[in-house]
Amino acid sequence: MKKYSYVGALIMLIIISSCGNTANENKAKVKMDPARMAIQGEMEAELTAPPKVPASVGDRSAKKLVVNMEVIEEEGEMTDGVKYVYWTFGGSVPGSFIRTRVGDEIEFHIKNHPDNKLPHNIDLHAVTGPGGGATSSFVAPGHEKVFNFKVINEGLFVYHCATAPVGMHIANGMYGLILVEPEGGLPPVDKEYYVMQGDFYTKGEYGEPGVQPFDMKKAVEEDADYVVFNGKVGSMTGDNAITANVGETVRLYVGNGGPNLVSSFHVIGEIFDKVYIEGGSVINKNVQTTLVPAGGAAIVEFKVDVPGTFILVDHSIFRAFNKGALGMLKVEGNENRTIYSGTIQEGIYLPEGTSNQEMPSSEKEEAVNTNISMSERIELGKQIYSRTCFACHQAEGQGIPNAFPPLAKSDYLNKDVNKAIDAVLNGLSGEIEVNGVKYNSVMTKQNLSNDEVANVLNYVYNQWGNSKKEVTPAMVKARRSSEGH
Ligand code: CU
Repeated sequence: MKKYSYVGALIMLIIISSCGNTANENKAKVKMDPARMAIQGEMEAELTAPPKVPASVGDRSAKKLVVNMEVIEEEGEMTDGVKYVYWTFGGSVPGSFIRTRVGDEIEFHIKNHPDNKLPHNIDLHAVTGPGGGATSSFVAPGHEKVFNFKVINEGLFVYHCATAPVGMHIANGMYGLILVEPEGGLPPVDKEYYVMQGDFYTKGEYGEPGVQPFDMKKAVEEDADYVVFNGKVGSMTGDNAITANVGETVRLYVGNGGPNLVSSFHVIGEIFDKVYIEGGSVINKNVQTTLVPAGGAAIVEFKVDVPGTFILVDHSIFRAFNKGALGMLKVEGNENRTIYSGTIQEGIYLPEGTSNQEMPSSEKEEAVNTNISMSERIELGKQIYSRTCFACHQAEGQGIPNAFPPLAKSDYLNKDVNKAIDAVLNGLSGEIEVNGVKYNSVMTKQNLSNDEVANVLNYVYNQWGNSKKEVTPAMVKARRSSEGH
């Protein structure tokens, strides 16, 4: 009897508690289970190439969304003079941006262009199902595959090709982003852009011209030649910079296709007011640099308060200045001197017991040795170059794309020797054009004697296909006095 009532009580308890669960689940399902959300109507998805994104979903109802994605293998430009055969989703690297909402039912058409050489497929991280769609989408050139999926989880997701060798398909540019907005859409902002990092592996070193084939060994060793935003060096610099106006809020959908490297995404001179960490639903605030894993994403938002050029980088910083992971956001509008003053004073700094750092020119000129040969001058100039110029203009005078102009075969240097002398004597800032490319950086004034200026310029003029123009200390002296130095 005792035993019976104990079992009975237990059964009652189970019934009560399971009833409770069912009631809660039902309540939740009625409101928000996207897996059971009904669709109303059908539309074709707008697809965009970076840095553009499609229009926001706003408050539209869940629909059947038809995505027409064409795989195209085509030659493109990695950087000036360097070609690469990219494999793309929709003709761009990263591939077309897809924008959807929870509850949508996507009818995905993957079309492999008949001119392509290889089969491909797609794994979308927004898919709940085997291979993220890869197992249903393997498609040969000249064919089309269709599969459907229900969009259940909101967030920013990577998609990529998953055909063997998977790493190679991704390394050739086969990745992109799919944004899944919540019911009612993300809060509106003023500007939205699509930025996606990728690492590339080429037979030749960085900048080596010609069509560069993929290098499997470097890829396996994770020894990237190029680390870039939006598929190429300079995709978002100069005239390609993304833009905003003072007072606007900018939202960046940041992805990382990899295949190997993790991005330390940072915007120089800005603080992310909000980061949707890893593209999910947790929002962090007041972030300087956010990690974007290979095969992952983040949404960052910030209000721009002052005008200027803000540089997007992977803060693994050699990638930015030496491998291409550098973009620009140009902000126009009125200054706000309270938030940022600009330089308000510049003066001489002379700690006690030191003398003026700038050598009086008369003292330096006494050291001029007129009896040395040109080859000795070049040798002395080489030493000065490796001490003073090398870091920016690089060992072979190749410069650094988007940052420091080349000295090799430089039309700027070869056309006007006085400009070259002036640059070393006085420094150089503001926009200049070298070999058809615009640069806007700062070269500091070099504290060198007339003899040293002549030597380093003789070294430069006698290297790397330059004009072998001879520069004498007297020429430097003349420029120095004409400028009042
Ligand atoms: Cu592929």
